[in-house]
Amino acid sequence: MAIRKIREMGDPVLNKKCKEVTEVTPRVQELIDDMFETLYEAEGVGLAAPQVGILKRVVVIDVTGEDPILLINPKILETSGEQEGYEGCLSVPGKSGMVTRPNYVKVLAYDENMNAFELEGTELLARAVCHEIDHLEGHLYVERVDGPLVNTADLTEED
Ligand code: NI
Repeated sequence: MAIRKIREMGDPVLNKKCKEVTEVTPRVQELIDDMFETLYEAEGVGLAAPQVGILKRVVVIDVTGEDPILLINPKILETSGEQEGYEGCLSVPGKSGMVTRPNYVKVLAYDENMNAFELEGTELLARAVCHEIDHLEGHLYVERVDGPLVNTADLTEED
């Protein structure tokens, strides 16, 4: 396993649409392992393959640090409700912005054996799923921000 370099806003790879994974080859498995390692090293909540320069529909998420979730070819089946909150991205270091997201999502995705499964999430998990799927379409959260980007370090608990 290896830590991969996280691409930052301005890198054109972040604005491209990713391709579906048809088979988890050893190369894709290595990508998945590296993405988890890179996510934990960066202390992030989620990471999408284009953030490490690979245009494949692969997402890793862990909102607690103890619940790794792999989503291959994720598709949103259902959303409901709304949540407003500050959101950040490892590709936009040090910044946060207010983004409205659904408070609940249900997704269809594939695991590393290409078995389909459904995942439901609320609150932070719902936010992370939507954020990461946006990456697969070439979108960054900054396109959805209501108001200015702020320095994450300036945010206080009351925000
Ligand atoms: Ni991101």
